This record gives sequence, structure tokens and C-alpha cells, in this order.
Amino acid sequence: MEKLWGGRFQKNTDKKVDDFNSSIRFDKRMYKQDIRGSIAHASMLGKQGIIPWEDSEKIISGLKEILCDIENGKVEFLIDAEDIHMNIEKLLTDKIGESGKRLHTGRSRNDQVALDLRMYLLDEIDEISEMLKSTLSTLVSIAEKHTDTIMPGYTHLQKAQPITFAHHLMAYFEMFKRDFDRLSDCKKRTDVMPLGSGALAGTTYPLDREYVCRELGFSAVSMNSLDGVSDRDFAIELASCLSIIMMHLSRFCEELILWSSHEFSFVEMDDAYSTGSSIMPQKKNPDVAELIRGKTGRVYGHLMGLLTTMKGIPLAYNKDMQEDKEPIFDAVDTVKLCLPVFCNMLLTMTVKKDNMLHGAKGGFTNATDAADYLVKKGMPFRDAHTIVGKLVFYAISKDKTLDDLTLAEFKEFSSLIEDDIYDAISMTSCVNGRNIIGGPAKDTVLAAIAKAKLYIESL
Ligand code: ARG
Repeated sequence: MEKLWGGRFQKNTDKKVDDFNSSIRFDKRMYKQDIRGSIAHASMLGKQGIIPWEDSEKIISGLKEILCDIENGKVEFLIDAEDIHMNIEKLLTDKIGESGKRLHTGRSRNDQVALDLRMYLLDEIDEISEMLKSTLSTLVSIAEKHTDTIMPGYTHLQKAQPITFAHHLMAYFEMFKRDFDRLSDCKKRTDVMPLGSGALAGTTYPLDREYVCRELGFSAVSMNSLDGVSDRDFAIELASCLSIIMMHLSRFCEELILWSSHEFSFVEMDDAYSTGSSIMPQKKNPDVAELIRGKTGRVYGHLMGLLTTMKGIPLAYNKDMQEDKEPIFDAVDTVKLCLPVFCNMLLTMTVKKDNMLHGAKGGFTNATDAADYLVKKGMPFRDAHTIVGKLVFYAISKDKTLDDLTLAEFKEFSSLIEDDIYDAISMTSCVNGRNIIGGPAKDTVLAAIAKAKLYIESL
């Protein structure tokens, strides 16, 4: 096939180089954005009198037909037309003839690809933001049912203090809320229109960049032609946001995997969200959570891949940058795959409240509250800490919990302890006493949930 840039060449490209060089396999997914961008460019060229008005009209209707053809599966992209930009330009010229050859006036594939990628990622950011919004609603809807579901909170994966499952869920609400905000922020920097940067040094044609910007719904035009074609920080920033989302998903999945084990038995995944073993008949594995945790690795990898690809590239465009697409596309696809499945897994999971409560009661999770009890009776905290430490040691030796100790046993350690100790160190008191802002008390969590709902509505 004659190359669109073939004028200066005496030989055809080696077939192997065509295969090597071509990006159509993966950049064809930007066909809509490429066509939208070309329509805006052609319309501007006509409006500015840079190309004849009739040519501009023909180009626009040709491009619209090509869009339909692609969507109806009538188009086969060609490897030797290299990428989506030249494939569409070739389809256009084949369809409308001479006028099609005027489309690329005042434009380079360098600013074209920067435009297409920005447009593509803007659409994806919107989709992922919607999914995050559903994730936030999912967390809140489950949290609402569990403001009384007491469970152990952990540090170092050792039982620490009692909390509620609602409080735990709302911790993830905060994380995914920040993820949502981070994406909105990343969107601002992606929402910049690079067309008009040309190959690297702009163009001598009187392009109306602001017009193209408005036509395509961008908020601003890029301010430096070199930067417009040679940076991919918007993609890297997105990969970073996506990595953080995956990190949050992965941490929760890790907890769910632990909690599904016989040893914890705090939750049970629905049959529809678990798989069995080909050899061990008893097995029910939390594969979905494991796979989300596993897929986190590839998204992190894409972030590192993008950073590394970009780190040594002199300005402006270099072909290395064609390597930006597969990683960012896969990172986007992976997050879009994980978020809905994660939500459904949560929604269908059984929460074993009794086991959670039982877990909270063991492991001396009320020891801090026992110390606080003494402090409230006038003892300095450090002394109270030591006394309760001794009480815990004693209880372990008797194979008892603090609640099992008799008042006489308590009094051996401090005469300040009275009958009201039992209420002070009950699981409910431990949780509901922590009613400061951000705490796990039922009323505090209910207030956090109400605030969360308002936030979701505001999105
Ligand atoms: N397929 C190329 C890419 O993805 C398009 C830009 C090519 N520009 C060039 N001067 N070779 O980066």
C-alpha cells in the first residue's frame, strides 16, 4: 500500500517493520475521538477559509459515514496504514476522493494523537467516576445496616479495640471519596486541547484553536506547542489515580479474604461470587477478591511503565510515546472491570455478626477502656495502663477475659474499681463511648452516613 507519507521514499516498508511500527491493533479503540477531532478540525479549516467550504462539508459528511461504517462492522483496519489516524484518513480519501486530502492541513499526527488520547481518557474518567459513585453508594447502603454490628478493630493484625462493621465500611467510603476527588482533579489537567501544536512548532495557517476547543467541549487550549505534543503527564496522573483506587480495592479484598477464612469466619461470599476446587470438594474460595488484589499489580506496573517510557525522551514527539496507549488502556480497563464486581461481591456477601461480636470480645479489646475507667476515677493514665496490663496478664493465666473477673479479683489490682466496671468495659460501651467526630459510636457513624449521602447526592 502507498504510504500517506510515501513521497520521500524509494522503497516500501519491510513487512516486519509495518507490523512492528503499527499501533492500529490497540489505537483503533480511539476511532470515535479521532473522527470527532477531525470533524472539528475540518469545520474550523472551512470556517477560516483555509480549505474551500465545500471540501470541509464533504470531509465532515464523509467522516460521519465512516463512523457509521465502523460501528456497523463494515470497516477492516489495515496494519500498513499504521494507526487509527492514517487509517481513517485513508478511508476518507477512498470515500470522497480529492477533498479528503485537504483534511490534514495545519495538523500533524503528533497533535492529533495527543488530542485523541485526551478525549478518550476524559470519557473514561467520567465512566470510572460513575463507577466510584456507585461504589460509594454501595458502601453507605451496607454501612447503614451495620451500625450495631460490633467487630474487633486491628492494629498489626492483632485485636486492638472494638469498632463496628459500619465504621470499617465508612473508612473505605473516605478512601474512595478521595479517589473520586482525585479523578476530578486529574480531569481538569486532561481537559486541555492540544490541536494546533502541529508537529511541534504550531503552524503558519490561521487556525482558530479556541473554536476547535469549544466544538470539542474542552475547557482550555494548550499554551505551548512543544508541550502540547510531547507530554503525557495526564496519562501518568490517571495511571496514578487508578493505582490508588486499586490499592484501596486490594486492601479491602485482602481483609475479605482473611475474614472468609475459617479462622476468622466474619463473612461468607455468596456462592455466585466464589469458586470451588477441582480436587478438594469442601473448598469455597474467595477468587473474586483475590483476583482484584492480583490485578492491582498490573495497574501499578502500567504506572511504572509509563513513567519509565517517558523519563528519557527529549522534546518533542518521539515514537517511544506510542507505548503510552496499551498501559493506560489496560489500567483503565482493569479498574472498570474490578469496581462493579467488587460492589456486587460486597452486596451479596453474608456478614456473620455473631462471629464478629465474638471476635471483638476475645483478645482484651476492652483493655484501653478498663484503663480509661481508672483514669476517670482519678488515676494518671500511665499508672492505669500498668495496672490493666497486670490485670490482662492475670486474666490470661486464668484463661479468662476481663469481663469474667470477679469484683474481688479486680480489687486485688485497684481499690478504685467498683461494680460499674462491667458496664464500662462492655463492648457496647467501648464502641458507643467513642462518640467524638470520626469515632465508631453508633450516633457518630449515623451522622457520617448522613453526610456521606449528601456528598453522593452532590456529585
Ligand atoms: N501512532 C502514533 C502514536 O501513537 C501516532 C503519532 C505518530 N507520529 C509520528 N510522527 N510518527 O504515537
